[in-house]
Amino acid sequence: MKRVISIASLVLSLAAFSATAAGIPPEKVTRPEGTEAFQGDRTELVAKGELLWNDKNVSDNGKKACASCHKGATKMFKASFQADYPHAVKMATKKSKLAEVDAEQMVQFCMLAAMKNDDVLAWDSEDLAALTAFTVDVIQANYREAKAK
Ligand code: HEC
Repeated sequence: MKRVISIASLVLSLAAFSATAAGIPPEKVTRPEGTEAFQGDRTELVAKGELLWNDKNVSDNGKKACASCHKGATKMFKASFQADYPHAVKMATKKSKLAEVDAEQMVQFCMLAAMKNDDVLAWDSEDLAALTAFTVDVIQANYREAKAK
């Protein structure tokens, strides 16, 4: 009986592993046709984005914020972050075979691949527009400034 259980759990963990290794289908992180980004005042979006960036409730299990990995100006970012969007990002090329991503796609991509959430943010949501605005105007600007020193 004990052996049956351990084989069952081995099969389960293999299934979980292959689901991760299989990556993120590119269509899951690509804006669906007919949807439009939320339009709002840029300063207000950036302010709301900052709250979301630090909010653990953004993750399904309530344990991880964007800021949990991206501590300070440079943590968990690679040199690709220097360039204006769209550009190639290693993790997105590897897991989704996307040649390049724009800023909102990168937010959605980290939602799935890094946060391990089941779903992306709604494509027309204020949350997506806010996180994208904050990511570009503040996080990317801080990264460039830190790297320029
Ligand atoms: C579990 C850790 C983790 C969490 C949580 C996380 N990320 Fe990331 N993120 C990464 C890693 C690793 C990379 C580097 C990927 C690469 O360059 O291949 C990255 C890269 C990025 C980049 C830069 C990509 C580029 O253009 O070079 C952005 C922007 C980003 N993440 C946004 C976010 C946002 C927004 C959130 C919250 C929704 C988030 N991340 C949460 C791990 C994380």
